[in-house]
Amino acid sequence: MNILETIHQRRSVRSFSPKVMEQPEIEKVQGMLETASSEPGPFGTRIRLKLYIDTSGSGEARMGTYGLISGASAFIMPVVVDAPGAMEDLGWTVERAIIDLWAAGWASCWIGGVFSRAKAASLAGASGEEFVPIVVALGREAEQRSLLDRLVTRAARSRQRKPLDELCFLPDGSALNGDALAPPWNIVLEALRSAPSASNKQPWRLVLSPAAQSWALFLDEDRLYNNSLGNTHLQNIDMGIAMYHFAVAAYCASIGGAWIPLTEEGGWQEAGDMEQRKALLDAGKKKGWKPIAYWA
Ligand SMILES: Cc1cc2nc3c(=O)[nH]c(=O)nc-3n(C[C@H](O)[C@H](O)[C@H](O)COP(=O)(O)O)c2cc1C
Repeated sequence: MNILETIHQRRSVRSFSPKVMEQPEIEKVQGMLETASSEPGPFGTRIRLKLYIDTSGSGEARMGTYGLISGASAFIMPVVVDAPGAMEDLGWTVERAIIDLWAAGWASCWIGGVFSRAKAASLAGASGEEFVPIVVALGREAEQRSLLDRLVTRAARSRQRKPLDELCFLPDGSALNGDALAPPWNIVLEALRSAPSASNKQPWRLVLSPAAQSWALFLDEDRLYNNSLGNTHLQNIDMGIAMYHFAVAAYCASIGGAWIPLTEEGGWQEAGDMEQRKALLDAGKKKGWKPIAYWA
């Protein structure tokens, strides 16, 4: 299975086999976490990934996810310090780990809602300004899914994604379709579209510069939802996940380029063709979206 197939196959799993991970497995998983966190994300933050194994059989109770997740005895805990782009880099790094782990037979589920952040921070040995914005339940998939799992999956309409013409636009604000969605870009956009997001809200929006074949990525923020957990901004994590999917697919499709961070304050100044970029930025701002990054 290549990485693109893995990206499309991955789904959230909330019912795990209760068998506790054995030492050789733990070492392999830890190796994958180290690889994923060996480089910083596109915004320059390196994320520390800690693996928590509960041998008592009450992992969910320890992590405070009661009921929602069943059978999990392993959790990935990303530790960060608040900084511009840290949430996006967390999304990027953790998704990189999740995709590698899925390819190796490990199922997972992001948990950004109900879990004890204080317990996670203490289990991860977070110190000073460090915190644990989300955790990821990890394990082998159970043969039978729990009732709550089936209900949550249905409520989040997990397998459903918005069509590309609700995600991709031209600088004049019109929906993108036709040639711009032909190969090789369709590979990249489909990979982005398959990304997991908190409550499956899919807040990613893209504006294409047809002349330059470059993209600006925006966040269509649900303000209340994204700003109700202190320093944790789930939808900025969503953006980092989508950026990872996009970049991996671009690499697979032999499309050159990289993400250039883009905030209200700056980012544009770093490279040429300002006019074109400004047009993209204005197009997104007119829609009320927050600029995140530019692909060129
Ligand atoms: C940042 C983030 C936070 C999430 N938090 C939760 C959560 O608290 N509980 C849960 O059951 N699923 C959570 N999810 C999983 C999403 O609901 C799921 O990814 C989405 O519905 C798409 O389904 P899929 O992962 O099967 O493709 C989260 C996903 C992300 C990216």
